[in-house]
Amino acid sequence: MNTSSCILLVDDDEVDRRICRRALARLEPAPRFVEAETGDEALLRLQEQGFDCVLLDFRLPDMDGLDLLRRLTARPVEERVPVVMLTGADDVTVAVEAMRSGAIDYLVKDVDGRYQALIPTVVERSIRKRELNLARWRAEQALARHRLELSDLTRRLMVQEKTMVRRLAQTLHDQLGQTLTAIRLGFDALTSVRREPAPPEVERRTRLVDALIDQAVREVRQVLVELRPPLLEEQGLVAALDNELRSRALVHDDVDLRLEPQADAATLRWPADVEYAAFMIAREAITNALRHSGAGAVRVVVRGDEASMVLEVADDGSGIEPERTAATPGHLGMVGMRERALAIGARHSVESGAGAGTRVRLEWHGPQHGEADG
Ligand SMILES: Nc1ncnc2c1ncn2[C@@H]1O[C@H](COP(=O)(O)OP(=O)(O)OP(=O)(O)O)[C@@H](O)[C@H]1O
Ligand SMILES: [Mg+2]
Repeated sequence: MNTSSCILLVDDDEVDRRICRRALARLEPAPRFVEAETGDEALLRLQEQGFDCVLLDFRLPDMDGLDLLRRLTARPVEERVPVVMLTGADDVTVAVEAMRSGAIDYLVKDVDGRYQALIPTVVERSIRKRELNLARWRAEQALARHRLELSDLTRRLMVQEKTMVRRLAQTLHDQLGQTLTAIRLGFDALTSVRREPAPPEVERRTRLVDALIDQAVREVRQVLVELRPPLLEEQGLVAALDNELRSRALVHDDVDLRLEPQADAATLRWPADVEYAAFMIAREAITNALRHSGAGAVRVVVRGDEASMVLEVADDGSGIEPERTAATPGHLGMVGMRERALAIGARHSVESGAGAGTRVRLEWHGPQHGEADG
C-alpha cells in the first residue's frame, strides 16, 4: 500500500478494537482508524466518509453483524467497502454465512489470540482484492458500453445499407431495366421489319446481339434478386429461404439442400430487420457451405415463435480450417454474419470440426423475452 489507508473498526469491545489497532499499526504506511461501537454508529461513519476496509465484529449490541454486512454489500459496486468479518471461535458457521453474504474475508478470534498475527495480512489482501475487483468491474463496464456503442453503430450502418440497397434496386429496376426493355422492343421491331435475309455475317451479329440483350436482362434480374430477397417482405423468412434454396438447387443438383422449418413457421413473422438479417446470414452460410465445404447435404432449420427465432445452417462438409476462422482480408462473409447478428441483438455462433461439417446458428429473442437487453 503506497498511501495510508483508512480502516473502520466496528466492535463494541474496547480491548478487541485496541488489539486490531495494534496489529494493523505494523502496516506500511500506518493506516488511519475510525471506530464504531454499534451498527448504527458504523452506518453513520460510513455515510460521512469512504473507507478502504471495514473490520466488523459479528456480535454488536444493536444489530446482527451479518445484517449490517448485507446492507453494506447491497451498495452499488463502486461504493462497496471490503468487509472482513470477525467471529468468535464458537460461531465458525457465521464465517461461512458471512462469506456467502459478501464479506471479502473473515478472521476467527481464537482464545489464544493467534488471529492477531493474521490481521495485517488479511486486511492488506482484502484491500488489494477490492482494488482488483473494482478494476475488473470498471473494465467490464467499459467493455459493455463499448459493445453497446458498437451494436448501435452497426445497427445504423445496417439501416443505411438497407436504404441504399433499396435505392440501388429501384434505380436498376426503373432505369436500366426500362432501358433494356426498350432495347429489346426496338431490336425485335427492327429485325421483324427486315424483308430480305441479311448477309450471313449480319445474321450472325444479329443473333449475338439478341443473345446479349437476353443476358443483360437476366443479369439485372439476378442482381435485383441479390439486392432485394424476393418474397421476404411480402411473405416472410421461411418463404424467402424456400425460394432461395430452390434457386440454389437448380445449380447444385448434386447437393441435398433442405429447408426444415417447424410446422407453423411459414406463418410466423418477425420484425423486418430481424427477418432481413436472418435471411442475409442464412444466404451467406449457404453460399459458404456450397462454395467451401464440399458438402453432400446442407440443412436450414428455422423455428421459434413471435418473440424468438432460431436459425441454423448446417453442412456435412470439410469444416472450416482453423486458420480461416480469424478474419482474413477480403473475406467478409463471416464478419458480416457476426455484425448482422450484433445489430439485431442476437446470439451468433459457428461450430465446426475437421471433416465434421459446419453449423452456423443464430438465436434471437424479442424484448418480451427479457434476454435481448442486458
Ligand atoms: N461451411 C464452410 N465449410 C468450410 N469452410 C468454410 C465454410 N464457411 C467458411 N469457410 C472458410 O472460411 C473462410 C472465410 O469465410 P468468409 O465467408 O468469411 O469468406 P469467403 O467466403 O472466402 O469470402 P466472401 O467475403 O465472399 O464471403 C472461407 O474462405 C473458407 O475457407
Ligand atoms: Mg463467404
